[in-house]
Parts: sequence; C-alpha cells; structure tokens
Amino acid sequence: MKRVLVANAKGGVGKTLISVTLAAALSNKRQTVTLADADPQASALQWIKRRSVYYPRVDYVSWRVGTAEKPIFVKKTDFVIIDAPSGIDKDLIQPYLRKCDFLVVPIVASVFDEAASRKFIIALQQIKKFRDAEIRLIPVGSRVNLRRRETTLLCDFMKYNTLELKTMISERSAYPNLARRGMSIFDVNTAENVKLQAQWRPILNEIMIGSNQNEPINPAN
Ligand SMILES: Nc1ncnc2c1ncn2[C@@H]1O[C@H](COP(=O)(O)OP(=O)(O)OP(=O)(O)O)[C@@H](O)[C@H]1O
Ligand SMILES: [Mg+2]
Repeated sequence: MKRVLVANAKGGVGKTLISVTLAAALSNKRQTVTLADADPQASALQWIKRRSVYYPRVDYVSWRVGTAEKPIFVKKTDFVIIDAPSGIDKDLIQPYLRKCDFLVVPIVASVFDEAASRKFIIALQQIKKFRDAEIRLIPVGSRVNLRRRETTLLCDFMKYNTLELKTMISERSAYPNLARRGMSIFDVNTAENVKLQAQWRPILNEIMIGSNQNEPINPAN
C-alpha cells in the first residue's frame, strides 16, 4: 500500500482537486484506491457521492486527526490519497506524515502563494523523514497558465530554491466541471483531456513506479 498526502499550508491551491484527480487516474489504471478525507469541509466526500457507479471505483474514508475518528485503511488497497485540511503547518502535519510515502505540494503561481509555500516546504525539509528520503516530496504547479509571466517566475523561484516542480497542472474549466459530477479528466478521454492527462504523468510515474525523472512540462495551454 502506498500513501500519498496532498498538502500545503495555503488554502484554495487545488489540494482537493489534485486528490480526486489522482484517485480517478489510479482507479482508471486498475489500482484500488481509497480517498482519505482529512478536511473538515469534506469536499472529497461530495465528489465521491456524485461519482457514478459506472466509473472506476474509489473508496472513501473520513479522517480527522485530533478527533475520535481514526482511519481504517483497507489493508489491500493499492493507494491511499490523503486530502489534507488547509492551514496545516509543520506541527499539524505530523500525524499525517506518519502515514505517508509521498507528499504532493500544490503551488499556485502568485507572489504570496509562492512565499507561503516556500516557508512550508523549508519547514518540512527540516523533518528527519524528508532528510532521510523516507517521504518523497513532489512539488507541483497548480492552476497554472503557461502564458502568464507569473508561471515563468514560479519556475525560476523553485529552481532558485533547488526545488524543481515535478509538473504543472493547467487551469482548465474541465476540472471543476467534471468534479461537479464526481468525475475527472481521466474518466473521459476527449482529445483535450488526453492532453491534460499527460501533465499528470510525472506524478503518476513517481508514485506508481518510483520514477524520479522530471519530464519536460507539457504545454497543453
Ligand atoms: N487545475 C485547475 N483548473 C481549474 N480550476 C481548478 C484547478 N484546480 C483547482 N481548481 C478550482 O479551484 C478551487 C480551489 O480548489 P480546491 O478546492 O481543490 O483547493 P483546496 O486547496 O482543496 O482548497 P481548501 O484549502 O479550501 O481545501 C476550486 O473551485 C477548484 O475547482
Ligand atoms: Mg480542499
């Protein structure tokens, strides 16, 4: 069982969108997947409830650290995707880190988001599990518009901080539109969605086969 935590101290950066998209991507690749919802807003639950039984199955478990609720992970599930709450910091993230192999950090290209994300990642890098590479850190550009100057600045900023983005996920209305129906771009193979799917390949390669190679960013924009 591999466990993937999706977290950032910042709110609204696409944590839930990335969690449900990864869950759908993996289930479409015939992996068994459980979404562990650690966000009190329970947005992932809304997505699961809307998901048709005709699409590859994603299981759900609610997980609120600090409450009586404890996650009961199906032992045989291939992947657990944990959607973290916003406002998490180096201390609040600890219980989740105990249960994870990969940490995906979505970063939005904006001067304030970058600064907050940098602070978050630097704090994480001081944690022993990261230094010992027990947990693989996967920073990704989220809600990206490749034509905007801020995106270039984000890439430069990450390189300057020796943290290369694994990939960039474009801002597209297909994501919220499909999410509203409990779906993702991996459930519907339109030409446009297939292009977008390529942007997720570096993350999927890393969590599925441990490939640490950075692919060139796919300019689906
Ligand atoms: N790649 C994208 N393209 C278009 N819209 C997106 C994309 N990613 C996220 N969004 C939209 O941005 C908004 C915030 O995304 P999301 O809810 O996933 O963020 P979050 O980090 O989970 O927020 P919170 O901190 O409140 O839990 C949502 O309306 C979502 O549909
Ligand atoms: Mg969320």
